[in-house]
Amino acid sequence: MSHHPRHRWLRWPSEPDRPRLAFGADYNPEQWPREVWRDDVRAMRTAGVNIVSLAIFSWARIQPRAGVWDFDWLDEVMELLHGHDIAVDLATATASPPPWLTAAHPEILPVDRDGHTRWPGARQHWRPTSPVFREHALALVRALAERYGAHPAMAAWHINNELGCHNAYDYSDDAARAFRLWLRQRYGTVDGLNDAWATTFWSQRFSDWEQVLPPRLAAPGSFPNPTQQLDFKRFSSDALREHLRAERDLLRALTPDLPVTTNFLLMGDGNTVNYPEWAAELDFVANDHYRLPGPQGRDELSFSANLIGNIAGGLPWYLMEHSTSAVNWQPVNKAKLPGELARDSLTHVAHGADAVCFFQWRQSAGGAEKYHSAMIPHAGEDSAVFRSVTELGATLRDLAAVAGTPREPARAAILFDWDSWWAAEQDSHPSDRLRYRQEALDWYTAFLELGLRADVVPAGGAWERYELVVAPVLYVMPAALSQRLHAYVGAGGHLVTTYFSGIVDEHEHVWLGGYPGALRDLLGIRIEEFAPLHDDETAELDDGSTGTLWTDRIDVVDPAVEVLARYKTGEMAGRAAITRRAPGPGSASYVSTRLGPAGLIPLLAGLAARAGVTSELPAALRGQVELAVRGPHRFLINRTDREVDVSAVAGPGSALAPRAVLVVPQARS
Ligand code: GLA
Repeated sequence: MSHHPRHRWLRWPSEPDRPRLAFGADYNPEQWPREVWRDDVRAMRTAGVNIVSLAIFSWARIQPRAGVWDFDWLDEVMELLHGHDIAVDLATATASPPPWLTAAHPEILPVDRDGHTRWPGARQHWRPTSPVFREHALALVRALAERYGAHPAMAAWHINNELGCHNAYDYSDDAARAFRLWLRQRYGTVDGLNDAWATTFWSQRFSDWEQVLPPRLAAPGSFPNPTQQLDFKRFSSDALREHLRAERDLLRALTPDLPVTTNFLLMGDGNTVNYPEWAAELDFVANDHYRLPGPQGRDELSFSANLIGNIAGGLPWYLMEHSTSAVNWQPVNKAKLPGELARDSLTHVAHGADAVCFFQWRQSAGGAEKYHSAMIPHAGEDSAVFRSVTELGATLRDLAAVAGTPREPARAAILFDWDSWWAAEQDSHPSDRLRYRQEALDWYTAFLELGLRADVVPAGGAWERYELVVAPVLYVMPAALSQRLHAYVGAGGHLVTTYFSGIVDEHEHVWLGGYPGALRDLLGIRIEEFAPLHDDETAELDDGSTGTLWTDRIDVVDPAVEVLARYKTGEMAGRAAITRRAPGPGSASYVSTRLGPAGLIPLLAGLAARAGVTSELPAALRGQVELAVRGPHRFLINRTDREVDVSAVAGPGSALAPRAVLVVPQARS
């Protein structure tokens, strides 16, 4: 799934075999008069830019009216860039349909779950399943491919932009038609669908495919069918992938020598696209990431970069966008602190990025993103941002040898799964407070605090090689996944899982006989009723930690189970809270409450030690520094706002400035 049948990196126009990291930005020259373009390419050279993503939002400029094309300006920009040895990742420009198209064909506009049209005025106002949109988009793709496919500046194709960022969920009639088709392929017969969706409940039984709809707004205070909701999320991700494939297939037919990518948007809580299922569609994986505010913002950046690196199968990937400084879409938008621009960039490189690019090259003077930072800010080249950008360009030039080196797998992994992410947070559950990604991120923070490397890997990927596997809230447990986990522990692997794991199958039907049905025997425990907590409730454990959100009334049913911690207070007092069953050399542990990083750190320290997984960092650096390894390069990332002495790993006198990153050759063992 996260496996790459073909990996084809950028086609560099000059010196194709010279190892280098790509460095650049989204370039939107259509926002500026011609004179500025010359200045742009000069300053790009100063900064060390070697690639730009071009024409992402240029549809209206390229095709001002139906049947009318204007390529002159783009010809000129392509020549200018090529003349300055700047490669082009050319967009297919299909992200934002122009007003003439939506005026002539309002039937391409998405519809929300209430039945309201999403009007044009921003961007990405198109239905992923609209045949009319598809036809116009492909005509544009064809025109661009025919005109620029052989242009010497071309390094790659960039399909659309952040597919699904604004239009993932469309409830229109086009979507309903495509959803039915998708369901027919999945279930074959109406009765197959009825069984999967448990439609005997609430008299929902279908007698004909035509009766099936997307989960449009239902009766207030009621809940749409949960499997319908889950399947609609799966379908919506697949529908966008169909669009991706349509553009890609045309590009591959017309320009077989050029690699094709699209920019994923794996960050924060965004989960509309099942990216592990998309990776193999592309020649290389690309991601956009914006660091979020809050105490775990830096760790979340590392978590996302790590997961993308593993979705890319450990092979180099392309950081298509991040920000030099402030964004414009938070309630309050803070500039980055000194060092953060380089640290954020190099954290992505540490996790396998061979390209470091920004949104965008020159900060806009008008439009919705004029207060979003860029490589050249409003202040111009005489600015701290541009100086940091230029410095980063030099750093990346010096790191050319990193290019092409694979991520070195860690010994521990965190499993991450879109089905569980989608399903665990659905309505009408024991608690609506559960946050799937937050639990996984808390474990990641605990690994970082202990100085342990951990890979974040898709649950469908190849994780058997890891000695320690943490599977937080792995709620959806198809029989095959359960069998893999059993086999893993049987073969000596150490599994750690948590509350609300192993509960349902792929249709969100409960595994019966007591929770956690699919993992009950493996864990040697049985739970008759969940015991979620109110926001103002906590659960004290006898190991000194405090749980929130959730508890379970655990009965230990296998004498081989060791109770690692018990609940101390309330009606749960004396009951097991954390358990570990070691049927052989392997083990299966269960954590029944939300401990947060503070509680997970000591717990994980013990579990990792018993799994034989130890830190590669000297004790003094654990928690201070994140370690990532690519081929012979060790990346040391200062997680703190203080200077950290790293002489123990980087030679006498070496120190990491606050928020700095150091790349050192791998210590020989
Ligand atoms: C997204 C888009 C860009 C821009 C940035 C701003 O990632 O792809 O066009 O809007 O966000 O952060």
